[in-house]
Amino acid sequence: MRSDRAIPQAAYRLDRSYVWNYGHAPALPRIRRLPSGPGGRLFGHPLDSPLGISAGPLLNSRWVEGYARLGFDVLTYATVRSVSRPALPLPNIRHVENQERVAVVARRPAANGATVAVSLGEPSMEPDVWRRDVRRAKERIGRGQVLIVSVLGTPRPDGDADALVADYASCAAWAAESGADAVEVHLAVADPYAPQPLMIYENVPLAAQILYSVRTGVSVPVLARLGPFRSPRQLHETATKLAPWAGGFVLVPGVRRQVLDERGNAAFEGTGRERAEIVGADTFPIASRQVLEMLVWRRAGAWDRAVLAVGGITSVERAQWLLREGADAALVATAALFDPLFAVRFRQARATAVA
Ligand SMILES: Cc1cc2nc3c(=O)[nH]c(=O)nc-3n(C[C@H](O)[C@H](O)[C@H](O)COP(=O)(O)O)c2cc1C
Repeated sequence: MRSDRAIPQAAYRLDRSYVWNYGHAPALPRIRRLPSGPGGRLFGHPLDSPLGISAGPLLNSRWVEGYARLGFDVLTYATVRSVSRPALPLPNIRHVENQERVAVVARRPAANGATVAVSLGEPSMEPDVWRRDVRRAKERIGRGQVLIVSVLGTPRPDGDADALVADYASCAAWAAESGADAVEVHLAVADPYAPQPLMIYENVPLAAQILYSVRTGVSVPVLARLGPFRSPRQLHETATKLAPWAGGFVLVPGVRRQVLDERGNAAFEGTGRERAEIVGADTFPIASRQVLEMLVWRRAGAWDRAVLAVGGITSVERAQWLLREGADAALVATAALFDPLFAVRFRQARATAVA
């Protein structure tokens, strides 16, 4: 029997290309009177609320402006590179159910919120385009809001690790010049020079070199985006070694899994796409455990850096819980796409609690 439960239309059209979505910022609902936020502070900037959007969903200044108006106050612009990079072909985002070892394509989101597999290939517009557009984004956000720009280094065919470090640094410098209030350094990507599969944040000397080089080139705070850790010990050691060069940490962006369709075939076509980033509701237990671990470690006095929580925050309760535990901000990505009024409900919940 056919289920009549409608598939919710995402702000980002999953059936359209990245370029199409770049040119078609969603017509988001207009809110006449946004409930006031609970306030907050990040890197000395006063915030209306500590709720925001993580790297990716805000493709350009129009997307930033739309979500800023809906009460998201920590806005992360894209992820940008020093070169233009097209997105991988469609489909590149699919609803999934995250199972024990693999993720399996689902026809519609589960009742507890969407979980999706993302295989976009970290696209970027060319620097001339995004540098101008970051400036526009900064002009379009309000007081009580901050703009973070997410940057990613691009390895060159004839380059080495030093060239990659320099590439991260120039992207970060351009982002800061264009008006970013903070720069997020995306380290949760494969280390192209490691002899065995390793993410950059797991190669601590390289991650530290990148952060050091970025930090010496910009005067705004630098955030390190880290991925999931294999053990609490690895998390502690990495955070402690990177803390001297970072103003804060953003974690946990997602879990990499093999993604299969209903018939057991690869869900994304093309080599190198067998595994994809699983994000959204189902990842909350894994992501929040690591955020809490990071907060415990900070409380122990190892260092005093901002912790921006991300990963599976698909309900107001989840966001509030992580903030109560001490996170400096709660960032959403999947929920922003399927539930753009999330920030309004977050603010309403607070207004109700205060009343
Ligand atoms: C459509 C989409 C695009 C994304 N693009 C990026 C990206 O360009 N750079 C990045 O660092 N993370 C990207 N992410 C990951 C998010 O920043 C976030 O870390 C992840 O989705 C987990 O949060 P969530 O569970 O609230 O979705 C993307 C996520 C989604 C859903």
